[in-house]
Amino acid sequence: MESRKLSGAVVRDAVFAELSAGVASSDCQPGLAVVLVGDDPASRVYVASKGKACDKLGFHHVTHRLPVDTSESEVLDLIDSLNTDQDIHGILVQIPLPGHISEGRIQAAVDPRKDVDGFHPDNLGRLLAGQPRFVPCTPKGIVEMLRFHEVDLPGREVAIVGRSVIVGRPLAMLLSLKTVPGNATVTLCHSATRDLASVTRRADIVVAAMGYPGGLTREHIAEGAGVVDVGINRIDDPAAKKGYRLVGDVAPEALDGWASAYTPVPGGVGLMTIAMLMRNTWDAMQLQVGGS
Ligand code: GUN
Repeated sequence: MESRKLSGAVVRDAVFAELSAGVASSDCQPGLAVVLVGDDPASRVYVASKGKACDKLGFHHVTHRLPVDTSESEVLDLIDSLNTDQDIHGILVQIPLPGHISEGRIQAAVDPRKDVDGFHPDNLGRLLAGQPRFVPCTPKGIVEMLRFHEVDLPGREVAIVGRSVIVGRPLAMLLSLKTVPGNATVTLCHSATRDLASVTRRADIVVAAMGYPGGLTREHIAEGAGVVDVGINRIDDPAAKKGYRLVGDVAPEALDGWASAYTPVPGGVGLMTIAMLMRNTWDAMQLQVGGS
């Protein structure tokens, strides 16, 4: 089977072009603050790529790198000061946080109007109510990518594997909204799902968001289905320049030559996450300067 590779780069480029034009014609510069606690290597790479995207688009950005033993109240104090900083329109606290810090308390402390991650209960509640404001970047990026590549959704069966607050749960909400794109029939699968393959094989589109490589194989995916691979996993590879390479959550055998269309890793959903973060930061600035 001929498989269509759904590029994230072309969609990211289109979003960046639109945002660059917006910045060029705006009196105000969008500002993003990123908070990184500890030195998780993958998080350091993500945070650096967010800074590069801000530079490219002409956004103001500040990264606060805090030691791993920073207390929860110190992080909360920093968030308080960012909440009132007029130059900062978006605040992102990189997840995962060290175990002694409650992610829920930190996320709830961010001013919901600056919550470009969409993790504040207020923003998650709006999504559930069908009135989304800030939507988590990865699910928002997946929907944008499917829309751009004209993947048909209404009435189709989508199986999402993984129920995280970052990806699976908000994606299930978005895809089932009575909007375009949306109107899909969504099944949210997780670690307690019985006979996962029998559920995912029924789907027109399978979304792999469980967070480990090789989690889905041909056994899980009907030939000719679409596959969205959200995973970004590092695999040791002495032949690679960095000593590792990135792979998704889906085994390669279930993608090229098997799926009708799939998102590659790297070059797929990961690029969309950053693009949507930039768009959310732009929208946050509009919301704050517009004063509503
Ligand atoms: N860690 C992995 N993905 C994300 C994300 O979208 N936002 C934040 N803050 N942390 C993450």
